[in-house]
Amino acid sequence: MTTLTASANTPVFPFDLLRGDLEVVDKAIRDQARHFDPAVEGYVAYVCQASGKRIRPALALMAGGATGGKTEHHTRLSVILEMIHIASLVHDDIMDGAATRRGMPTAAAKWGSALSVLLGDALFAYALELSTEFDDSVVCRSIAKASRDVCSGEIFQTQRRFDLNLSVTDYLRMIEMKTAALFGVAAGMGARLNKVPEHVEAALHSYGMKLGTVYQIYDDCLDLVGDETKVGKTLRTDLVKGKLTLPILYLLMEATDAQKQKLNKMLLQGEPMDTTILASIADYEGAIEKAVNFAQSMLKEAVAELICLDESPYKKGFEDVANYVHGLLDNCRALSR
Ligand code: IPE
Ligand code: IPE
Ligand code: MG
Ligand code: MG
Repeated sequence: MTTLTASANTPVFPFDLLRGDLEVVDKAIRDQARHFDPAVEGYVAYVCQASGKRIRPALALMAGGATGGKTEHHTRLSVILEMIHIASLVHDDIMDGAATRRGMPTAAAKWGSALSVLLGDALFAYALELSTEFDDSVVCRSIAKASRDVCSGEIFQTQRRFDLNLSVTDYLRMIEMKTAALFGVAAGMGARLNKVPEHVEAALHSYGMKLGTVYQIYDDCLDLVGDETKVGKTLRTDLVKGKLTLPILYLLMEATDAQKQKLNKMLLQGEPMDTTILASIADYEGAIEKAVNFAQSMLKEAVAELICLDESPYKKGFEDVANYVHGLLDNCRALSR
């Protein structure tokens, strides 16, 4: 399994607590391909074989551990959420025209958009099929609802491409749907599987939503400041594709009318923009800094949700995940200077 030791100062995902469980989940994900028609199996195997960070499965398992114990239901939830995540990435890479994902050529780069759209659909459908095996229909419904949110968030984002009137509120709503929804379901349903009181399920759902929102803000900063070879996926596509992310929204807020016009013109030309160009337009470093600060303060709110949990290594695990993302954001801030 891929570990997160890209460079000396890259924070390492707090895996140890869940290492064994995540290995089981990892194997189960790789095994899913054989449930598909032989004509399709190879494509599914390809996108399932590359290991991501497995953050969503980790949250589902952690929620199980923190609320009475991990069971095979948590493993199933983990597999389902990762399959939905993979499906969304397959589609996302088509839309972003991305060449690399998890250190390998994207499905779109290998087989083109037509096949990849259908591959993503098949993965979504299969994940929802698996989710019908839960006795509790609320779990199944919540997974389906989160899948719809992921797709709706991506639609919303596509609708608002190149829209310089996009507000921070719109942006936050968009990323809550496209990214946080799966984090929310992972933590919330992970707890629900252990029949926790409603307020505990709600608190963990909220932790997941906040963490997921922060994670997307981090990813949006990374798109500007990250190093493709270390990250293993295509970066610098957000602006070219007209995605106005939080650091860019902050950049626009600080820009003069003339600077806004310049940025607008460059956006419409669809030219790849490097950080020097952005820095020449307005306070680029300050914009990343502001996005990082916003995200780090939301992380505090996420951790505050954990008050409902008894002390345990898993509660600590949730805190460690938040600290890990805090460290990733610190890295982005450092890279912007
Ligand atoms: C990438 O998610 C897409 C976003 C929501 C930012 P991850 O960073 O979790 O991707 P993998 O699963 O580790 O590849
Ligand atoms: C996240 O957005 C994609 C999904 C939630 C499906 P990005 O487009 O920023 O994700 P990456 O950067 O390609 O992983
Ligand atoms: Mg993308
Ligand atoms: Mg991104």
